[in-house]
Order: sequence, then C-alpha cells, then structure tokens
Amino acid sequence: MARDLFAPLAPGYERWARVLSLGQDKRWRSQMVTRLAIEPGQLALDAAAGTGSITRLLQDRGAEVISLDQSHQMLVPAVARGAVGVIATAERLPFADEQFDVVTFGYLLRYVEDVAGAMAELSRVVRPGGRVGMVEFGRPAGAWRPLWRLYTRVLLPTAGLVAGEGWPEVGRFLGPNIEEFAGRFPPGRLARIWEDAGLSKVGFTRLSLGGGLVMWGQKEAAASSGTL
Ligand SMILES: C[S@@+](CC[C@H](N)C(=O)[O-])C[C@H]1O[C@@H](n2cnc3c(N)ncnc32)[C@H](O)[C@@H]1O
Repeated sequence: MARDLFAPLAPGYERWARVLSLGQDKRWRSQMVTRLAIEPGQLALDAAAGTGSITRLLQDRGAEVISLDQSHQMLVPAVARGAVGVIATAERLPFADEQFDVVTFGYLLRYVEDVAGAMAELSRVVRPGGRVGMVEFGRPAGAWRPLWRLYTRVLLPTAGLVAGEGWPEVGRFLGPNIEEFAGRFPPGRLARIWEDAGLSKVGFTRLSLGGGLVMWGQKEAAASSGTL
C-alpha cells in the first residue's frame, strides 16, 4: 500500500511535505538528529529515507549514511545528491546485526503492520551503545485538537488537490491515518515498544503543539557473561 502511495510523490515531495506540515517538518528532523550526538565517520542507516531529508542532516554531521527505502522512485533524488541507496523494507533489513552506530527513521511506523516487529528489526542492526532516532506526526491535545482536525480533514485534502499527481490521495489519507496511529500508539506505549526491542534511555518530545513527535533511544550494551 505504501509503495503505491509514495511512487508518484518523489518529484515534489520535499516542497509539499513542507507546505502540508505548515513549515514544521524541517525543525522536527533537525531536533531528532541533534539528539543523536553524531560523530564524524559514524555509520548511519536512514530507514524509510524517502528523498533523503534526514540523510542529508546526518551527512552534514559527518556520518557515512546508507539510505534505505521500499520505493525506488522516492530514493532517486536522495541518490542523485550523493546518498548510498538500498531498496528494501524496514521489516527485513539486509544487514548484519549491530552494524550501525546510528539508525534513524522518519514517518515510517504508520506504514508498518507489525510495529513491534519492525522496531525489533531496526534495533537489531544497531551496535550496543548506538543510537536510534525517530520523527513522526502527532495528534495535538486539548483545545488544539479541533483545530488540528479542521486542518487535517478540510485544509489538507484541499491543498492535496492542487499539489499534483498522488497528493489528493495523501491529503485525504494523512489525517485519519495519523489520528488512528496516535490513538493506538501514544508516545508512552511506543516508548515501551522501543524498550522491549532492546533500547534504553528512551525519551520523546512533542513539538508544534503536539503535531510532531521526536523519539530517541540507545541500544543497550550487551549483558556481560562473565563467570566467577
Ligand atoms: C513520508 S516519507 C518520509 C521520508 C523521509 N524519512 C522524510 O523524513 O522526509 C515515508 C517513506 O517511507 C517509505 N516506507 C514506507 N513503508 C516502508 C517500509 N515498510 N520499509 C521501508 N520504507 C518504507 C516510503 O516509501 C516513503 O519514502
């Protein structure tokens, strides 16, 4: 399903993603990357990399980045700007255990059927002590929620109509999809899923009145098996 949704979006993706997130998405991504304390030369996997917005932030900090996505079309602009592209799904990563210093993913888990399984797979490829970061849409609470609903149910589908091929579907799909995911996986529950996947020091922050969510964690160091 996600493959069909994203295939036509690549050419204008970054421009329209900015418009549809009211200009907030760049800030969310850079907050996430800041949390990862990246050092030059580290090896990073950007899963669901799309056109490479997060990939480029990681590269700016000196990381060597592999950009993975299920959609060939989405990866084309990332590779054209110097990323190493791998076509695969996040649920079955074609990498050995504990290979990466850093794993990032933006706007992935809403498209995954088995969230806990995908988190276990993403965590599998991180070295002990390595870091994981996520950016995702959130659902504002309180008085902001009706305004957010108006935005996602009326303005977003309308903006999608003028954005070009593929975007009307995105405009209709996004609001209900974000809301359903946020209801099933509020940040506290998501954090526990991360911990069950072997990540510790899991933290999160809601941004832009709750419209954005950034989460981070660290792969637990392997338990020592010393004998007395
Ligand atoms: C909204 S885009 C986000 C791209 C990028 N992370 C960003 O922040 O701009 C979501 C991307 O996830 C990819 N995707 C969705 N499900 C996936 C999966 N199971 N495995 C790998 N990529 C997936 C889509 O092809 C798409 O490129």
